[in-house]
Amino acid sequence: MKAIALREYGSADDLRLVDLPDPKVGPAEVLIRVKAAGINPVDWKLAGGGLDALMEVRFPLVPGWDVAGVVERVGLDAGEFAVGDEVFGYIRKDWVQQGAYAELVTANVRMLAKKPRSLDWAQAAGVPLAGQTAYRSLKRVGLTAGETVLIHAAAGGVGSFATQIAVALGARVIGTASERNHDYLRALGAEPVTYGEGLAERLREFGPIDAAVDFVGGDAVEVSRQFVSAHRIASVANPEVGPHGYVWVRPDGAELAELARLADDGKLTVHVDHALPLAEAAEGWRLSQSGRTRGKIVLTV
Ligand SMILES: NC(=O)c1ccc[n+]([C@@H]2O[C@H](COP(=O)([O-])OP(=O)(O)OC[C@H]3O[C@@H](n4cnc5c(N)ncnc54)[C@H](OP(=O)(O)O)[C@@H]3O)[C@@H](O)[C@H]2O)c1
Repeated sequence: MKAIALREYGSADDLRLVDLPDPKVGPAEVLIRVKAAGINPVDWKLAGGGLDALMEVRFPLVPGWDVAGVVERVGLDAGEFAVGDEVFGYIRKDWVQQGAYAELVTANVRMLAKKPRSLDWAQAAGVPLAGQTAYRSLKRVGLTAGETVLIHAAAGGVGSFATQIAVALGARVIGTASERNHDYLRALGAEPVTYGEGLAERLREFGPIDAAVDFVGGDAVEVSRQFVSAHRIASVANPEVGPHGYVWVRPDGAELAELARLADDGKLTVHVDHALPLAEAAEGWRLSQSGRTRGKIVLTV
């Protein structure tokens, strides 16, 4: 199979399109013919060695934890899915080597859900990691209908899902973004506010805030603490919130099925900022590294 791989820790410049053996299919796994693979910032952070202390990484490394595709083969005990099923998933394994930037990838059935019919392949591949991070973060702060949530980096991958999930829940959403994304946030149902110097003063005009989720780091948690009690702040980027508030997304097919349902109910969609062919993965990483992604960047296979 063709795949994008790295021979050792490196950057976008080190990504190569290579031929690799087709992966073996474990008993609880299915083999997926990849239609699209989502790009997440963690892909290039991991490839650069940034998670070496946390994760067992083996080379050649095929990056990519988000996939949408068609089941091509079913493992010995993986009857939850059948050949031909259209699936998607956040498919991080316990050790990292065989990812989704490839023509074929295997995944444990517990990480997969049926692809929502309302999303095309590129959109579906954009959902799993970021969508589940958003879902988990809002759950962590216990957001309920009628409450107001502050979402830091609301226009990015995770933030755009958090905004839509919170709106679907019946919450009021205040979302931080640069001005070029304010209309985008309004279209998702949020009230936009510009981040940076003076954010706290601007936030005071919105009235009481019940919970906050941070998808960017920096001073987002510090600003949130001026409005929200500590146990209702979650962050994916700032360990200062402690284990009750720090979110590290886990693969979970059941959670993903709930997101698929939201999509098919018309409550969750995906803005694909860039869809690039697999061979242009390096360009996808450079775009992601700019920190200006609106929605998601996806590779089509
Ligand atoms: N711990 C976990 O499990 C986990 C899971 C997923 C992601 N993450 C991390 O969470 C972060 C976000 O991920 P992502 O996929 O959403 O990234 P992304 O899509 O690349 O985020 C880009 C967005 O960030 C916004 N942004 C940049 N600086 C900002 C600031 N200071 N304040 C508010 N918004 C800002 C940009 O909006 P403008 O263009 O308007 O500036 C852009 O829309 C990354 O660091 C990622 O590694 C962690």
